[in-house]
Amino acid sequence: MAKKNVSVFFCQECGNETSKWSGQCPACGAWNTLVEEIVDKTSIKTRAKVADVRPTKLIDVKASNEQRISTSIQEFDRVLGGGIVPGSMILVGGDPGIGKSTLLLQTCQKLCSSNINVMYVSGEESLQQIKIRADRIGEFNDKLDLLCETNLDTVKAVVEREKPTVLIIDSIQTMYNETVSSAPGSVSQVRESTSVLMEIAKVQGIAVFIVGHVTKEGTVAGPRVLEHMVDTVLYFEGDRHASYRILRGVKNRFGSTNEIGVFEMRDIGLSEVKNPSAVMLDGRPENATGSIVTCSMEGTRPILVEIQSLVSKTAFEIPRRMATGCDYNRVNLLVAVLERMRDSKANRSCGIFLGRSDIYVNIAGGIRINEPAIDLAIAMAIYSSEKDIPIDAKTIIFGEIGLSGEVRSVSMAEQRVREAKKLGFEKVIIPNSNLQSVGNVLGIEVIGVSNVKEAVDAISR
Ligand code: TYD
Ligand code: MG
Repeated sequence: MAKKNVSVFFCQECGNETSKWSGQCPACGAWNTLVEEIVDKTSIKTRAKVADVRPTKLIDVKASNEQRISTSIQEFDRVLGGGIVPGSMILVGGDPGIGKSTLLLQTCQKLCSSNINVMYVSGEESLQQIKIRADRIGEFNDKLDLLCETNLDTVKAVVEREKPTVLIIDSIQTMYNETVSSAPGSVSQVRESTSVLMEIAKVQGIAVFIVGHVTKEGTVAGPRVLEHMVDTVLYFEGDRHASYRILRGVKNRFGSTNEIGVFEMRDIGLSEVKNPSAVMLDGRPENATGSIVTCSMEGTRPILVEIQSLVSKTAFEIPRRMATGCDYNRVNLLVAVLERMRDSKANRSCGIFLGRSDIYVNIAGGIRINEPAIDLAIAMAIYSSEKDIPIDAKTIIFGEIGLSGEVRSVSMAEQRVREAKKLGFEKVIIPNSNLQSVGNVLGIEVIGVSNVKEAVDAISR
């Protein structure tokens, strides 16, 4: 077949391939994400047909949960769904400098001390640089092999010879494959490298961690395009300048997603945070207006967070609305509900006029929460700031708000109330419909509310 180099355009967000450039990706709708790449169409391999492949009965397949390898870092194990599944491929994404290499090197250390062979392939740092980092983290034994290499064929050959149990690739953007003509970090290189690593993982049963940088500029292919290829996708969140880091599972073929692991970056690497609620509430102002504590479920774990709101007279034609850590559109919706309460007959006294006010909503601690259960807290924080009424510092509040101002039930109310009690709160305001399920939590005052008006009454008391 004649060699045929063609120019195609890849979307950096979703990996969609088109033959013509356009400003917006036709598949995912993202703007300015298409980049040109030259691909060699002759390199597509044709597979031989195999005549006697037979399917296997599901009941004949043996699998057990005991096979998981523990990383000995509880927060990491939780996000992984209980440990590393052999032969799986795990993508660890996040902004540069957030702590991906640090976490993986610490994982290497723990795995090695449990006598597991690990190979750490770095395309970014030299052996000396890795050593400097390792010295900060602590003692290592002789089970860890390092390899500074960017050529994937070499990596593959070394892995086949050394047969580690866990392989770490830091990072996928630096790896290149000779069969692909485009530069390392381009969508086709990253994809091809991932599929080579996938083969290593599945055929040899090696657990492979790959590190992927997320860049907004789009000069390097973001790990987004890989999400559907790998088994597990974990993202590091948090402000690079603050010390807390949150590792969040966004996809997991072998466990539940939405679990989070909380870490603190210290001078000896990342350390686990066992009680995230206490950390999130650290430094909270007492009896300030516009500040309220709520409880969100992150996977199976309740976490208390402080919601802050600031309402101030606008100096602009159109008032500013800002949401940090929560959904902007949700905040707008809650503002609309609060405004509507002004002329609704049933809730006449609790509405507030916000049309001439800037509204800022922030979740303290750098965590992102998308759960509707924090609705009621956001609305009450806005109300408290606008009316200048401080909310009792020993109260927590949660519930979902519907469009007509009703407070709807949330899941796992009992765990949330227990967490509040554990951290010394004295009063919880919860949806009326959840009252029954928390009946057996003693030692904390529980108030049920069925609409925004009742919630306003409960916090103003
Ligand atoms: P790094 O893990 O290299 O980030 P990534 O691989 O995601 O790009 O490092 C993250 C930051 O953490 C870096 O700015 C240095 C800092 N750091 C510490 O504060 N303490 C430590 O013990 C280590 C190893 C790094
Ligand atoms: Mg790194």
